[in-house]
Amino acid sequence: MGDYMVIGIDGGGNEVKAVGPIGVLKFLSAIGEYRERKLTDRLGECDIEFAYKGKRGFAGSLALESESGGNIRGDTKANSDTLIRVLIAIHQYTDQKNLKIIVGQPISKHVESEKKIIRNMLEGEHSITVNGLEKTFIIHKCEVAAEGASAFFNIMKHGQLRMIDIGSGTVNLASMNNKKFSDLNSWTIYGGFSDGNEDISPTNPVDLARKIAVNALTKWRKDDEVYVIGGAAEKVIPYLTEYFPRAQLIKPIVNVRGQLIELPPIFANAAGFYEVGKRVYGK
Ligand SMILES: Nc1ncnc2c1ncn2[C@@H]1O[C@H](COP(=O)(O)OP(=O)(O)OP(=O)(O)O)[C@@H](O)[C@H]1O
Ligand SMILES: [Mg+2]
Repeated sequence: MGDYMVIGIDGGGNEVKAVGPIGVLKFLSAIGEYRERKLTDRLGECDIEFAYKGKRGFAGSLALESESGGNIRGDTKANSDTLIRVLIAIHQYTDQKNLKIIVGQPISKHVESEKKIIRNMLEGEHSITVNGLEKTFIIHKCEVAAEGASAFFNIMKHGQLRMIDIGSGTVNLASMNNKKFSDLNSWTIYGGFSDGNEDISPTNPVDLARKIAVNALTKWRKDDEVYVIGGAAEKVIPYLTEYFPRAQLIKPIVNVRGQLIELPPIFANAAGFYEVGKRVYGK
C-alpha cells in the first residue's frame, strides 16, 4: 500500500468536519439534486458540484438552493448522504490515494449492525469528481467511533467525566470512567441546535440547556465534571452551568505540520476521531 494518511471525519447533519495531519476542513452538509446552472453562476467558497457513480448533485450552500436539497439529520449515519459527505471531505482535504479513516455515529445507534453498514459503504476504492476535478482513492480502513465519547481523546483524564455533544440533529451524552466508556450512562437525545432557516425555527439556547439538563440529570449528578462540545457548545454553555456548575468547553489542540493549533469545540469530535485513528492505525 505504501504510505497512507489518517483522517478523522465527522459527517455531521449540519456541517462536515475533518481533522488530519495537514490541517482542518469544514463545509455545509447539505446535499441536493443536480440542475443546469446559468453560465453567469460563479462557484462560491462553499459551493460544491459533485459526480459520483454517474450521479450528479450539489453539496454545501449550492445544495440549499436545490428543490429537494437539504440536510439528512438523525440518530444514525448509515445512509448515502454520509458516503457523499465523507468522499467530498477526502477529495477536498488531500491528493493522497491511500487513506485510513475514522468516522462517527451517534451513541444510541453505535451498534455493530449500523457500524458494519457504514464500514462496508466507505471501505474500498472510490472515484469522485468535485468542481470538475476527478480524484480516485482507496479507503483501506474505516472505523466507526461514538460521537461525543470520542472527544475524550482530546483530554485523556482519569476519573469520571461526562461529555455533552450539542449537534444539529442530536445531542450525545457520554460518560467515561477511568478512561473506559460507560455504556449504561451514555445515550443520545433526538433534536439539537439550529440557527434557524426557512424550514427550521431557531433554537433558544436557554430552552435547549434545560432540555439537556433534565434529560442528563436522570443519570448524572449536578457536581459531575462535564465537558461540552459541538457547534452550539459556546452558545449553550452559559445556561448549562446553572445545572452543571463544573461544565466547561473542550477546545482541542491539534498538531498541524509541527505547529500546535487550538480549535473551537465544533471540531472536538473530528479531532477525537483523528486521535483514535492515530492509535488504532499506528501513526
Ligand atoms: N460558530 C458557531 N456559533 C454558533 N453556533 C454555531 C456555530 N457553528 C455551528 N453552530 C450551530 O451549531 C449547531 C451544531 O453544529 P454541529 O456541527 O456540531 O452539528 P452536526 O455535527 O453537524 O450535527 P449532528 O451532530 O446532529 O449530526 C449547528 O446547527 C449550528 O446552528
Ligand atoms: Mg455532530
